[in-house]
Amino acid sequence: MGIGIRIENLRKVFDTPPPMAAGGAGFSFAPVRKGPKKKTELVALDGVSFEIRAGEIFGLLGPNGAGKSTTIGILTTRTRPTSGRVFIGEFDVWQQQVEAKRLIGVVPQRPNLDFALTAREILTFHGAYFGQSSKVREQHADRLLEQFKLTDRATHMVRTFSGGMMQRLSIARAMMHDPEVLFLDEPSAGLDPQTRLLLWEIIREYNRQGKTIVLTTHYMDEADALCERLAIIDHGKIIAEGTPQGLKAAIPGGYIIRLRFNRVDAELTSELSAIGGVTQVRVLDETGADVYADRGGQLIGPIVNAAQDAGFEVHDVHISEPSLENLFLHHTGRSLRD
Ligand SMILES: Nc1ncnc2c1ncn2[C@@H]1O[C@H](COP(=O)(O)OP(=O)(O)OP(=O)(O)O)[C@@H](O)[C@H]1O
Ligand SMILES: [Mg+2]
Repeated sequence: MGIGIRIENLRKVFDTPPPMAAGGAGFSFAPVRKGPKKKTELVALDGVSFEIRAGEIFGLLGPNGAGKSTTIGILTTRTRPTSGRVFIGEFDVWQQQVEAKRLIGVVPQRPNLDFALTAREILTFHGAYFGQSSKVREQHADRLLEQFKLTDRATHMVRTFSGGMMQRLSIARAMMHDPEVLFLDEPSAGLDPQTRLLLWEIIREYNRQGKTIVLTTHYMDEADALCERLAIIDHGKIIAEGTPQGLKAAIPGGYIIRLRFNRVDAELTSELSAIGGVTQVRVLDETGADVYADRGGQLIGPIVNAAQDAGFEVHDVHISEPSLENLFLHHTGRSLRD
């Protein structure tokens, strides 16, 4: 059946007075300020609403400081919202914390594992906390250690683990009590490419059991490959929402067709610019040009014909599909990587 999530008009304002009033510290010639300290307010979430459907893999994509972890924190009872409400299934998370918490597993952005325990203890203690019998928790721990390739480290203390191993163990722990909803805050941070693919497979497999998965990422390829739907967040606001394909298709001129000819000149670029669907032609060098267009494959025929009619030969074609990077740029004027 699965559990859906609803987020209604969420606001979070952090009161973060600097640790020392300006001018008060050490080697400064600024006069010491008298009177009440000025309060700084930081708006981390500025009216965020969206829904996550039961049984989907949902991604929250955005740059550093966008408000992803704050959103996850509020959904998982770790961060109190300034205003707004969040529901996990039928439960209002902040009114019915116990019920909501029973449904969720959480992988925080920074692993918070007890260094003095072994990997197996981390898992079995977590199972015990959720009331699993010793037989069940040993079985679950065995299976998860195997899945996350930690079996040979099962009896080693966490303090001897690499960053990637801790991350894997942290995810395994969140899955230990078989939660209906799994929250993963930057799950693939610090994982090598192979382990990242392993994690994607584990997430998909868990999702196939009907579980709802919510993850944050600032990797566009991860959002694209793994998530069924996405919300893109920037400066505490949702700027776009939808399937990766739908979001990408919504940007005009999102396709880039990279072409190689025997030669490129002004006549060729003007022929290419005149083709319907082409928004821009950029010359790369004496034989290369990029065509920006609202379509991909369908334009190859018209491009080749126009070039040949004008006496040019096409040597190579490469189509790059619209990307989430382009989408972010389109909405904010900035790159997601900035
Ligand atoms: N406990 C806190 N006290 C004060 N400000 C905070 C606190 N937690 C987060 N913030 C601020 O809220 C904003 C959103 O932070 P948040 O951690 O939600 O971003 P994020 O999208 O998860 O970023 P990242 O990709 O770096 O993890 C940032 O400006 C951050 O500095
Ligand atoms: Mg974060």
